[in-house]
Amino acid sequence: MQVSISEIHEIINKEASGDGSLIAALEEIQARYRYLPPEALILASERLGVPLSQTYAVATFYGAFSLEPKGKICIQVCMGTACHVRGSPQLLDRLETQLGIKAGETTRDQLVSLERVNCLGACALGPIVVTDGDYSGQMTLSKVDRLLKSIAKSEAEA
Ligand code: FES
Repeated sequence: MQVSISEIHEIINKEASGDGSLIAALEEIQARYRYLPPEALILASERLGVPLSQTYAVATFYGAFSLEPKGKICIQVCMGTACHVRGSPQLLDRLETQLGIKAGETTRDQLVSLERVNCLGACALGPIVVTDGDYSGQMTLSKVDRLLKSIAKSEAEA
């Protein structure tokens, strides 16, 4: 997705004229671009009067922010203990193999980002895979294959 400096300005100006919240501005930019472009950190610092080092610290502290472009779809595999013993490493292996990426990476076409996450607090349903915020419990390798087919089909139809 092309980064628009004027759009970033607009988002930051809106926050600056409100309560001037750096986090709110970064959240909106993250939601718009699926990451925080370097220009956004610089503009937010200047306009909101926050040192760049502090803006960078905020951007790297919160897991919701990313400094790298993310895929259109985010798949997270819970690697907490309960999910781990119920097979989440095999699910992650299958996803990495099928997508051709490792956890923490995004497919070359920017369609899917794959992440490992810690316990999501729903251990009884494990192993859990989360797709764009939708939890799928008691996941199996065949369910993972169906999930990837459904993503590919939706993308082909889009
Ligand atoms: S270990 Fe996966 S939800 Fe708790």
